[in-house]
Amino acid sequence: MKLVLGIETSCDETACAIVRDDGKILGHVVQSQIKDHKAFGGVVPEIAARAHLDLLAPCLEACLEQAGVPLKNMSAIAATTGPGLIGGVMVGATFAKGIAFGLGKPFIAINHLEAHALTVRLTHDVPFPFVLLLVSGGHCQIILAKRVGDYQILGSTIDDAVGEAFDKTAKLLGLGYPGGPAIEMKAKKGDPLAYSLPRPLVGKKACDFSFSGLKTAARLIIEKQLELTEEFVCDLSASFQKTVGDSLVQKLTFALESMLSKEMPGHLVVAGGVASNQYLRERLERLAGEYGVIFAAADRSLCTDNGAMVAWAGVEYLNKGLASPLDTPSKPRWPLDTLSIDSMVRL
Ligand code: KG4
Ligand code: ZN
Repeated sequence: MKLVLGIETSCDETACAIVRDDGKILGHVVQSQIKDHKAFGGVVPEIAARAHLDLLAPCLEACLEQAGVPLKNMSAIAATTGPGLIGGVMVGATFAKGIAFGLGKPFIAINHLEAHALTVRLTHDVPFPFVLLLVSGGHCQIILAKRVGDYQILGSTIDDAVGEAFDKTAKLLGLGYPGGPAIEMKAKKGDPLAYSLPRPLVGKKACDFSFSGLKTAARLIIEKQLELTEEFVCDLSASFQKTVGDSLVQKLTFALESMLSKEMPGHLVVAGGVASNQYLRERLERLAGEYGVIFAAADRSLCTDNGAMVAWAGVEYLNKGLASPLDTPSKPRWPLDTLSIDSMVRL
């Protein structure tokens, strides 16, 4: 059986995992840097890159110990080579290339967004093609996932990513970083109809999103508030979360409608950090049911950045007999519709 080591360092999680080609996760260690960035209310790229440098080797040691297999047993080494904060990406990619070179094993360059996209296939039987809502701290896109390495972007945010809107609103509410999980917690005790917030581009017949107007509207309401009472924070969190849900559902409805005349994919998948939000998962599941497609999402713990998603993407490429040259560059930007299987190495 093949074993792939996956390394993820594109944002503020230093993560390593060892995944077997049958989908069993043998080792899985995620070292969050949240405490290093907390005082700044967001991720500081320079601090992140240095922290990855310190944390990566111990993270790999812990992962190997958990898996109980030596490094030399790996069939391939996969690492995120973009998109992301470039200092951190280079730390992880260079570390992975060094291991691959030292062991004489294939190196596999993984696009972070594709790793999020494929994670569902690690835990569920989801064949291609599928409709994917990719929602993270830096991205918000509706995608038609056609096969490994082949994605068509149907719509994107024209300004902020959803996770970014969660994080910025949470900061104004005094909830700290990361904001998504904190808003989800507060929203449980709040009234989703307490505040009416804008849903820009809703009604427009296109799959593009916009979240900056929602973020600004929330900010104006928060700034008018004399005191951030628990009741206010919960109500605003619930209203904010519901409005995000309305926007996502409306745009996905349009995407699914436009596919009705063609061959409808069998699954609607949500991936990325925001996909761990239970309220949003329930809204999307309901929507999928209305269109007769199956809703699928990775386990919540695998939605936020981790090494298993990178290792699994590595397995998917290894199964196709593909790897990457050691001079593969690290990229801060790397849209999902620009992957190039042709430039990969045939094993
Ligand atoms: O995928 P991810 O871990 O990192 C990026 O690739 O960006 O996503 C992180 C984002 C953050 O903005 C975080 O606030 C958001 O995902 N997030 C959530 C939840 N958990 C994480 N947003 C809403 N609800 C959650 N439960
Ligand atoms: Zn991510």
